[in-house]
Amino acid sequence: MYFFILGHNFILSIGEIMSLVKKNFEIEEESKNVLILKCPVFDLNDFQKKLGGTIKLGEIKTCLPLTQFSKISPLIFSLLPLTAKKIYFGFSIYPIEETAPLKNFNQLIKDLSLKIKKDLKEKNISSRWVASKEPSLSSVVVKKNNLDKPEKGVEFVILVSKNKFYLGKTAAWQDFEKEKYFDFGRPSRPIKSGLLPPKLARLLINLSQVEKDEIILDPFCGSGTILSEAIGLGYKKIIGADINKKALNRTKENINWLTRQTKEKINFQLLLSDVQNISKKIPSSSIGAIITEPYLGPLKTPSSETKILYLISDLSHLYLNAFKEFRKILKPKAKVVIISPVFLLKNKKYFLPLKDKIKKQEWEIINPLKNSKKFNNVPLIYHQPDQKIWREILIFQKI
Ligand SMILES: C[S@@+](CC[C@H](N)C(=O)[O-])C[C@H]1O[C@@H](n2cnc3c(N)ncnc32)[C@H](O)[C@@H]1O
Repeated sequence: MYFFILGHNFILSIGEIMSLVKKNFEIEEESKNVLILKCPVFDLNDFQKKLGGTIKLGEIKTCLPLTQFSKISPLIFSLLPLTAKKIYFGFSIYPIEETAPLKNFNQLIKDLSLKIKKDLKEKNISSRWVASKEPSLSSVVVKKNNLDKPEKGVEFVILVSKNKFYLGKTAAWQDFEKEKYFDFGRPSRPIKSGLLPPKLARLLINLSQVEKDEIILDPFCGSGTILSEAIGLGYKKIIGADINKKALNRTKENINWLTRQTKEKINFQLLLSDVQNISKKIPSSSIGAIITEPYLGPLKTPSSETKILYLISDLSHLYLNAFKEFRKILKPKAKVVIISPVFLLKNKKYFLPLKDKIKKQEWEIINPLKNSKKFNNVPLIYHQPDQKIWREILIFQKI
């Protein structure tokens, strides 16, 4: 059994994990914070590297009633790297549901940690209990204190639900340093024209489930965030297109920078094209997946309902034309993963009517959460605090 500590946009995080593990899983627990799955053994480090929306993941070692918390110390002891000169260990506590009784856990963890330290001392092993003011340890604290080095340290995760708890051992964490480098290190980051977070770009690619040897196209490539992430994930055939030459230059600059770092040989093509004519430049039925954040309207969000409705009508027109083109160039059964803006005004949300407008007989709508009991009807939305435009993620499969 494996646990996944989910990012802020947890619905997307769950969708991403379920897309990657495909059909081979059973859900043990699912909530805003945590997903626990029964699934075949897999390489946890490798999996974490692929994910855009998971903070950490690992293996569940036991599940017991809350009343038996004190019984885990022998198990904890057996999971420590006992051959190390000095052992580092720490605990992160996450509630599975909001109602999980976390109150006594600080004291329980303190008692347990002191007991472990004492037991280790008796065996002449020095140790350090890594504690933090927060109930859970951040990736920064984990890294600084050697908890990510299996030969020296362990981060234990306690996942608490109403009557029981799970004990897990973290195997991999989001690599915040690498992510910062590849995000902020890019030569072209046009903040003003709105940047797609790289983690979200990676998540979109994972939602597409596209095979590594297929061609990925972003027809609104901007500065190339999606294409850069695709290269990071190991895709080697990519096409970027945009109506704006400056945007194409930005993509070129970013991809050249990236491939200089990674030394990957990429089959990479850039096209100056209006999406509404893109089939003139790309052979029919050749593309494995279209993954894109399209034009979302002017930077300044519309200030009245009338303006929002006009913009929605314009964007719907552009996107529907784009889908006619996408059908021509996509391989059979290939997918489009597309961001659709959701406008917010006075606590009201305005969605584009894409799901209804895109012809049902030509496209199937894919729901990556279809196996989730709790969240299968929840839209895939990405947003950050204070954002006036949210992003809805839609997945269509060519029939
Ligand atoms: C929201 S931005 C994409 C940003 C991109 N995801 C990135 O990470 O930089 C939308 C892009 O669509 C391009 N665009 C607008 N209308 C277009 C059209 N009709 N056909 C193709 N590209 C278009 C714009 O030039 C802009 O670069």
